[in-house]
Amino acid sequence: MEKLTGLKKIKTSVFISGTGSNLKNLIKFSKTKKSPISINLIVSNTSKAKGLKYADQYNIKKKVFNFKDTKITEKNLLTTINKNKIEFICLAGFLKILSKNFIKKFGKKIINMHPSLLPKYKGLNTHERAIKNKEKYAGCTVHYVTSKLDSGKIINQKKIKIAAKDGSISLAKKILVQEHKLYPAAIMKIFN
Ligand code: GRF
Repeated sequence: MEKLTGLKKIKTSVFISGTGSNLKNLIKFSKTKKSPISINLIVSNTSKAKGLKYADQYNIKKKVFNFKDTKITEKNLLTTINKNKIEFICLAGFLKILSKNFIKKFGKKIINMHPSLLPKYKGLNTHERAIKNKEKYAGCTVHYVTSKLDSGKIINQKKIKIAAKDGSISLAKKILVQEHKLYPAAIMKIFN
């Protein structure tokens, strides 16, 4: 696609820890003509991440870093990122917190998808907590990453109504559908 159109897309790395449905969605988006990004590197903190299969499926480079020693890992991660000329990072279900040092040294945009209406429900188990607190609405948010958990500037957000019959699993499913629309929209908003 890049060669055909002559367009130079922003070299992007997606960081995952699990299923990778957002990763798959971003890969598909990256292959569209309108996408400002290409996905050149998939990073995971565990070799067990199911989403790593998309690296093979779509022929994208993948790297696993065990975050046992964060300092050493981040140093190696930065080397890999620089070697691959990565200019933009999307976190998609990535369960490690990147240090202030890493964020500063990378020096370019890092964004994250979070399954809640931030600033409400930072951290894990967002849907369970929202239901337990009898919230009327839930949703998802794309935001810039800072070293403070789920606290960077919000790029975009989608709100949905929690149905009376919703449990955390049905709510997660509904929100995931919205995440898959919201993440590409956030990227278009940033780069257009
Ligand atoms: C998503 O709900 C995302 O918002 C959260 O973790 C989940 C990851 O799902 N950060 P997937 O791995 O992209 O399928």
